[in-house]
Amino acid sequence: MPCTVLVGGFWGDEGKGKIISHLAYRNQISICVRGGVGPNAGHTVQVGEKTYKVRMLPSAFPKEDARLLVGAGVLVNPQILLSEIEATGTKDRVGVDSQCAIIEEKHIQADKASGHLSKKIGTTGTGTGPCNMDRVQRTVKIAKEVPELEKYITDVSGEVNDALDAGKQVLVEGTQGTFLSLYHGSYPFCTSKDITASSICGDVGIGPTCVDEVVIVFKAYVTRVGEGFLPGLLSEEETKRRGWVEFGAVTRRPRRAAPFNFDLARRAVKLNGATQIALTKLDVVYPDCKGARDFNQLSDEAKGFVRKIEEEVGVPVTLIGTGPEVNEIIALERTGKPVSR
Ligand code: IMP
Ligand code: MG
Repeated sequence: MPCTVLVGGFWGDEGKGKIISHLAYRNQISICVRGGVGPNAGHTVQVGEKTYKVRMLPSAFPKEDARLLVGAGVLVNPQILLSEIEATGTKDRVGVDSQCAIIEEKHIQADKASGHLSKKIGTTGTGTGPCNMDRVQRTVKIAKEVPELEKYITDVSGEVNDALDAGKQVLVEGTQGTFLSLYHGSYPFCTSKDITASSICGDVGIGPTCVDEVVIVFKAYVTRVGEGFLPGLLSEEETKRRGWVEFGAVTRRPRRAAPFNFDLARRAVKLNGATQIALTKLDVVYPDCKGARDFNQLSDEAKGFVRKIEEEVGVPVTLIGTGPEVNEIIALERTGKPVSR
């Protein structure tokens, strides 16, 4: 499977960063290329004791020989990207497409000043919506016009397609989550573009015939920041009681929480053409699973939950997160059909 695309299944914050950093090693990738909106996303990667939150840099940075690319569709905040390159020591292996659009201070101000965006929609205030507006108007600045980015500028689509032609492993990193899609999500409470797997491919410049696997990441429960409906929404008290309290990686806002939703999961699988499920934070719902590395270490209840997802959604669960650290994971052989393990 030379080309794997990874996307979020619900409203973002499914734990994509951890799954990407794991797959980077397991698939021995040559390139991790990021699609999606821009720095409104925050992917968390924990390596040993150290936790990183990357908003621009691809999450496979711990794999030291992987090239880290940002696709043309992505909006770049140069300050954020440069500080992440510095913090991760990755300056020799980062590439930014010459046509990435640039977020400027005016976009951030417009995002925060707009009552519609900041209050009604509850945006992250990172300027992505207003920047995409300028992009659509064809007035936005692009990466090749920014001197600070000069040494990183590349043809991302060219690099990725060449790598695939040479049989190398490429991991395409999606951001946000399916129901934040401008087209297929919970409009108007969504982000400023489509972020399903097809669009993520468009962002990085590969065609649908290149894709071998689409991994969809579901958290074992559902959370949402910002406004908009969340089926099965729990009260704050109940969220606390279950230990499901979380805060946004970008905005630090508390996330609303609900139990896993099978109908949404089924729809998300269709919208993305997903071929595998990565299930994260199983240990948050079933604390006795913490740190498990083998399916047989799971409690019967947790195993039953995994099986139910496969049966109801019709796609195999191939990865199960059992803790925040990159190695706290169960990797399963794919059976190609709902569980018989
Ligand atoms: P915007 O993308 O900043 O315009 O925000 C629009 C909506 O999408 C808000 O509800 C945000 O909280 C949400 N959103 C955007 N990106 C992410 C993400 O990466 N994770 C979770 N929510 C996000
Ligand atoms: Mg996030």
